[in-house]
Amino acid sequence: MFYSKLLLPAILLQSLYFTNVGSTGAIFPLYIFPGDPGICAGWSAVLDSISANPTLPFYLIVNPNSGPVDTPDPGYQSCIPQVRSLSDNVKVVGYVATGYGSKASSDVLNEVTTYMNWDVSYRPTGIFFDETNATADHVQLYTSYAAQVRQDVPGDSFVILNPGIPVSVDDYFTISDMIVTTETFFDDFDPASLEISGTKPASKQAVILHTGPQPFPLPSSMRWLASD
Ligand SMILES: *[C@@H]1O[C@H](CO)[C@@H](O)[C@H](O)[C@H]1NC(C)=O
Repeated sequence: MFYSKLLLPAILLQSLYFTNVGSTGAIFPLYIFPGDPGICAGWSAVLDSISANPTLPFYLIVNPNSGPVDTPDPGYQSCIPQVRSLSDNVKVVGYVATGYGSKASSDVLNEVTTYMNWDVSYRPTGIFFDETNATADHVQLYTSYAAQVRQDVPGDSFVILNPGIPVSVDDYFTISDMIVTTETFFDDFDPASLEISGTKPASKQAVILHTGPQPFPLPSSMRWLASD
């Protein structure tokens, strides 16, 4: 599966990171086929991370086919309930690409609906909108995407936007629960590039780093990130 080579190191380094520092949460692009039902070998690293950190919030992005399929493989049907059973702090969200605002909004909304039509036992409770173009021009568009998720998931919906870069328009922080404000190679990450303020709180920001070293060295420049 795509991204899996990049992802596995990320999972391993994250599990070390959490135990050592007590981060506020962990986000995993779980773009990995889970494997056989009941065994979930493809997800074993993240299952172990959750078991080892039962009080830590985990945000797991499932992505069967660069977006949803009508009925996911039995592996998803079995392994999503299994990860949820490990901790009350696991949120499973579905991957939807938005083409930086150029994808037809009807296609984006249809993909949200496709996830929400999954059986409740493995249905995601939120959506990860990838390729977010967080300019003033697109506030209305992403507001409509977030509204669809709020409507489809009564009570406990979760909306993540992924522009992968800092966001200057505050509205995006209002409509979402979390924004990925950096997505880059581990070696290229500079914490000083993050923009944190009252309207852009660190508690709503996430950083996705890939191709990290093993074991994770936890540079002192990153420690402050975990304390917010
Ligand atoms: C994002 O939107 C702006 C208009 O607000 C557009 O000029 C730009 O090309 C878009 N970015 C991408 C990557 O498509």
